[in-house]
Amino acid sequence: MTSLIEQAAARLEQLKQAGVDLGNASAPAVSTAPVAPATPATPEVAAQVTPVSAPVAPQSAPQARTLHPHETKRVELDLEALTAQGFLTPHAPRSYLADQYRNIKRPLIRNAMGKGAATLNHANLIMVTSALPGEGKSFTSLNLAMSIAAEFDNTVMLVDADVARPSMLRMLGLPPGPGLLDVLENSVDMADVLIKTNVDKLTLLPSGRPHARATELLASDAMSGLLDHMAKRYADRIIIFDSPPLLLTTESRVLASHMGQIVIVVQAERTPQSAVLQAVSTIENCPLKMVLLNQASAKADAGYGYHYGSYGYGQGYGYGYDRDDGQGGAQAVAGKA
Ligand SMILES: Nc1ncnc2c1ncn2[C@@H]1O[C@H](COP(=O)(O)OP(=O)(O)O)[C@@H](O)[C@H]1O
Ligand SMILES: [Mg+2]
Repeated sequence: MTSLIEQAAARLEQLKQAGVDLGNASAPAVSTAPVAPATPATPEVAAQVTPVSAPVAPQSAPQARTLHPHETKRVELDLEALTAQGFLTPHAPRSYLADQYRNIKRPLIRNAMGKGAATLNHANLIMVTSALPGEGKSFTSLNLAMSIAAEFDNTVMLVDADVARPSMLRMLGLPPGPGLLDVLENSVDMADVLIKTNVDKLTLLPSGRPHARATELLASDAMSGLLDHMAKRYADRIIIFDSPPLLLTTESRVLASHMGQIVIVVQAERTPQSAVLQAVSTIENCPLKMVLLNQASAKADAGYGYHYGSYGYGQGYGYGYDRDDGQGGAQAVAGKA
């Protein structure tokens, strides 16, 4: 049985041959990859929080910096519960979902490590976004982070940058806590809010305490500065940003302009074609985009290539480069594979 990715690639190739306009030649390369629905979710994920080695920053945040040493917090994720919810975990048995994420992550890792075709600024900063809410950005971000952490030699940082609708800690069964917004407000150092996990190499940066000016902070110069700092200070890390949707907010576009790579999650069978086109047009200038078809069931996928193939994302959707069949040099990826 051919994979969804191969089927989709074949269909897009047919469309191209049939003369369907897939974009102008100067358009940036965009690749697409489908992700099938995971097994149905069970209600709550429970995670144990191990004794925290550094105290959580107190409410009177400005003083926090001087109150405690820079010891990274550590939590114990309940990996079995996460697996039961349909998320990838490092030691879960080989699955279709895991295989699909393997295909998706390869070009991302390669680019992040400067081994891709293009030289990218901030190549290790990967934004996960979508046109609309609820398309699977958080689901994708977590799975991508887990998948990369399982094979990548270096640390992966997962950042909850969807500050208006944060979900990372809840998804992982962890209590709310300080994070990105607190760093942007200058009330804490990043080292104080990073969380290490029992998944080797996976570090979390939560969105932080709810803040009236959350979206402004995300689009602020402070955020640009922080991203620049992160790209350089953690150049050997891959940093995944679970980000706000592109069409309902403007801060997501600002964020996008600082990212090396962008993954646009498209919920199969739901997101209108016009919405995806519009979303892509808001980040026209970002050099590297990958479109990920989320929850593409085999049945839905049957009509998908045709429906979405005419988006005009640009030429060079180049599935070859993230396939296992040797096209485009998939072997240049770190990890055990
Ligand atoms: N491929 C998938 N398989 C199963 N459930 C999914 C998948 N993608 C998303 N979901 C579920 O759909 C809901 C919305 O996804 P979420 O990632 O929270 O969207 P967003 O972050 O874009 O708002 C969540 O309950 C999530 O677990
Ligand atoms: Mg989300």
